[in-house]
Amino acid sequence: MKFFVDTADLDEIREASAWGALDGVTTNPTLYARIGGKLADFPEHIRRICALVPGPVSAESTAAGRKEIVREGRELAALAPNVVVKVPVTVEGLAATRVLADEGIRVNMTLCFTVPQAILAARAGARYVSPFVGRYDDIAEDGVDRLEDIVVALGNYDLSDCGPGGESIEVIAASIRSAHHVTQAALVGADIATVPFAVLRKCLSHPLTDKGLEAFNKDWEKVKNA
Ligand code: E4P
Repeated sequence: MKFFVDTADLDEIREASAWGALDGVTTNPTLYARIGGKLADFPEHIRRICALVPGPVSAESTAAGRKEIVREGRELAALAPNVVVKVPVTVEGLAATRVLADEGIRVNMTLCFTVPQAILAARAGARYVSPFVGRYDDIAEDGVDRLEDIVVALGNYDLSDCGPGGESIEVIAASIRSAHHVTQAALVGADIATVPFAVLRKCLSHPLTDKGLEAFNKDWEKVKNA
């Protein structure tokens, strides 16, 4: 499973990238608002992220109609070669995805909650689809089970006749809230997990690792003083 970081914060992206295990970045309007982002700075901000991480960087379209999504998608894709245009799985989003995919622009269909949405995303040529795990948990449903349904359903088919991009669609486990979600995403076969920076840090933390390290350090002090 590949790791993306789910943030628009340049410091977090820089640090996660320095760990040497980062494959890409996902952003959304909420994450950009959270860092105090301004509309006029958005294109430059996406360019900066793309310069930090060579892998795919999802930048979300906020347009409503298909023509506007296509126009915005083209603009976003022109910012850097590693931009992936994030488009919601709606009727308008699907129609726009087909146009963008036919032009060779990679699309990540977001806000995906069901198997039909994921299959339609693949048929329309989305290169990525993002089932949201945590938001299902928020409404007392099992988000990991729904993610697994999507992984299994897409795996049931030969996708070679899907729109361009769809034939090699990858499932991004999104709305990840804990290291446990990351474990579950890996176990059910998600291709990618996009993980908030704080959760990524937690993925590397375990009390037994800390305890073991403390003991090794203590014993090494004994060796140095022997
Ligand atoms: C996915 O690409 C989204 O940016 C993100 O994972 C949403 O997560 P949330 O439900 O925690 O807002």
